[in-house]
Amino acid sequence: MRRMLVTGGAGFIGSNFVHDTLRRFPDVEVTVLDLLTYAGSQRNLDGVPVTFVHGDICDASLVDGLVAATDVVVHFAAESHVDNSLNDPSPFIQTNIVGTFTLLEAVRKHEVRLHHISTDEVFGDLPLDSLEQFTEQTAYDPSSPYSASKASSDMLVRAWVRSYGVQATISNCANNYGSYQHVEKLIPRQITNILLGDKPKLYGAGANVREWTHVTDHNSAVHRIITAGQIGETYLIGSGDERSNQQIITQLLTLMGQDPTAYDHVPDRPGHDLRYSNNTTKLRTELGWTPRYDFEAGLAATITWYRENAAWWKPQKSSTEAKYKLLGR
Ligand code: NAD
Ligand code: TYD
Repeated sequence: MRRMLVTGGAGFIGSNFVHDTLRRFPDVEVTVLDLLTYAGSQRNLDGVPVTFVHGDICDASLVDGLVAATDVVVHFAAESHVDNSLNDPSPFIQTNIVGTFTLLEAVRKHEVRLHHISTDEVFGDLPLDSLEQFTEQTAYDPSSPYSASKASSDMLVRAWVRSYGVQATISNCANNYGSYQHVEKLIPRQITNILLGDKPKLYGAGANVREWTHVTDHNSAVHRIITAGQIGETYLIGSGDERSNQQIITQLLTLMGQDPTAYDHVPDRPGHDLRYSNNTTKLRTELGWTPRYDFEAGLAATITWYRENAAWWKPQKSSTEAKYKLLGR
């Protein structure tokens, strides 16, 4: 693995992945292909020695040329936000499904390995207050246009492995947090609200549970999979740290020295998934992966990052809140 093509490498998880890859494997030549949508910024890669290509994963001739010149593709590029998908599904269908199809055709032609980044949201949701977990065998049952488009892309990858012998692996990770996450997502939205003197916004009763995984732990799992994972296999990734949304908001307010009850209830998201939880036994036992981040310490470090990088997030904030205002959330 000398040359790596990272799609979506200017987004949240992709840019953290590029930073971590070059820190851990300084000899790898990284090319980033990113469309720089509202969610991507080249500034996320400032000072990092990569070849940056501004383009669309749906552009078959561009993708073909880039794939021909690489040893492995790590595919993060996606439309990634559930609320946006409810508002307008069409870019989700285009980027997440047609874009993944375009990459699959190129890796098939050039016999290049692909790692496809996906989400546990493809499995639907689990009951609250249960010990049930998703496994690699759980049937797909997506709820939102976002998760349906990611489920479709996973299905395409599986079919291309079986029918054409494409050399691909898939990972389905739980919710991520950390630096460079767009302020539309739960944790950075509330941190930046508090920093601006506004109240955090809790959807519905706030009982919905997510499993929070530090982005660096997600990416260390991806490194294990691309170096030691078995072709054709799927691996679930998650920290085991489950929290309700209400607990997250209370914890953020407390860590930031505010009254823990000083948040607003806003109308719930339609079709809102109740709970996600990944069983990560396969990744831990077969590939020896363990998450390193303690949740509270990771959250405190994330707060510090947003405190110190207001120039990074302020340009996104007012347009994001204007969008939420229109949605009533
Ligand atoms: P993000 O929205 O922060 O970044 C997505 C990146 O993809 C952006 O840089 C954007 O410009 C780029 N992009 C979008 N459309 C493109 C296109 N057509 N061509 C090229 N580039 C394009 O997303 P993220 O949170 O970093 O998520 C990355 C991946 O991880 C996604 O596949 C997502 O489904 C998956 N995932 C995310 C989470 C999470 O909690 N954020 C959890 C599990 C899995
Ligand atoms: P989000 O970060 O959008 O991730 P996902 O929907 O992919 O899990 O939201 C995480 C949870 O937080 C989800 O249950 C919705 C909830 N939420 C709020 O309560 N308030 C908010 O302002 C946002 C953005 C999300």
